[in-house]
Amino acid sequence: MHTYLVTGGAGFIGSNYIHYMFRKYGDDIRIINVDKLTYAGNLENLKDIENRSNYRFVRADICDKDAIAAIFAEEDVDRVVHFAAESHVDRSIETPEVFVQTNVLGTAVMLNSAKAAWELPDGSFKPDHKFLHVSTDEVYGSLEEDGGYFYETTPYAPHSPYSASKASSDMLVKAYMDTYKFPANITNCSNNYGPYQFPEKLIPLIINNALQGKNLPVYGDGRNVRDWLYVEDHAKAIDMVQETGRLFETYNVGGHNEKQNIEIIHIILDTLREMLPESDPRRANVSDDLITYVTDRKGHDRRYAIAPDKIKSEIGWEPETMFAEGIRKTIKWFFENEEWMKNVTSGDYEKYYDSMYSNR
Ligand code: NAD
Ligand code: DAU
Repeated sequence: MHTYLVTGGAGFIGSNYIHYMFRKYGDDIRIINVDKLTYAGNLENLKDIENRSNYRFVRADICDKDAIAAIFAEEDVDRVVHFAAESHVDRSIETPEVFVQTNVLGTAVMLNSAKAAWELPDGSFKPDHKFLHVSTDEVYGSLEEDGGYFYETTPYAPHSPYSASKASSDMLVKAYMDTYKFPANITNCSNNYGPYQFPEKLIPLIINNALQGKNLPVYGDGRNVRDWLYVEDHAKAIDMVQETGRLFETYNVGGHNEKQNIEIIHIILDTLREMLPESDPRRANVSDDLITYVTDRKGHDRRYAIAPDKIKSEIGWEPETMFAEGIRKTIKWFFENEEWMKNVTSGDYEKYYDSMYSNR
């Protein structure tokens, strides 16, 4: 039976991963979720599993060495899945330091704590103990509009403070693997969407604003391209890489679902119109007239696109959820969880929204 230490499990991808793992393995695993509960962490995301006897939540900062060491001392952890991070590019442009603190220093603390707990007197590591570092395709920089893909061999060229901090964290993991033969993998994934995503990110922000008849802010010309992946497919990839991937390897996750931002917005508007019954008062709010072009993001990367050849050929993973299906599932989830959206958009979210969008 594996015992997982999951960091950032109260966030978007982490909570989807925890749900996925309990659905797949039931009582055959134990999960300890360590999360600081920043604005992005929300225990509501885990309500339906919080009372499981094989689940434990610890509120802690991954930069707090003593708190992390205590978990390794108390629990027989043999799997770490490291999601915890500051994750939003726009926030990183405003406050880079917190990204360096959590994403770089926090990763160093996680690596060092796992190394201390797992290292044997001869410098080797306990058998079948593994660390998976969840990273992003943004470390590779930006692709030309008319071609090319990110491969595992693509040189790192991060542009935003967020991607620079994630690139640094990847380098630390690589350094631990090279120096100590520390048993780890890195996954670099494209843009995720799905349930529990905080509405600072494009897709939930557009769904939420459209339902309320609020402007839909499009940065620049709206033609920046992202490669969208349904979050459950990402959760599955992480599990497959950790269980069947070659140790010390990096795997890119994503693939062949490139869309311009403006296309995404039109798909969301069309899907909302399809899914909302005529009698629903929100239907009248949903309109193309809400689309508002605003000042571009500073240093906005033009295009991301993953070539998932390695993960497909070595591990047999490929995306399963077509965008048309994934976006319907996502919208359905937001319809059924109006209270969740109300809760996360009350209070500080309004301040964030005003500061980010009022001068654009
Ligand atoms: P998120 O912002 O939704 O969640 C981050 C979680 O980490 C939150 O629960 C937050 O409370 C927690 N956290 C933040 N700082 C912490 C700290 N110092 N100590 C402990 N917990 C802390 O992020 P997400 O979108 O779920 O992304 C998760 C991971 O996946 C990140 O490492 C991100 O870089 C990576 N990633 C995200 C995407 C995407 O599209 N969202 C794509 C590829 C990779
Ligand atoms: O590629 C993986 C990355 O995807 C992850 O590492 C990040 O954690 C995650 O936040 C995401 O980064 P992006 O910057 O690509 O995602 P975001 O949802 O912020 O923006 C997607 C695109 O939409 C981007 O080109 C900017 C644009 N955008 C975004 C917002 C919030 C808008 O046009 N308007 C908006 O209001």
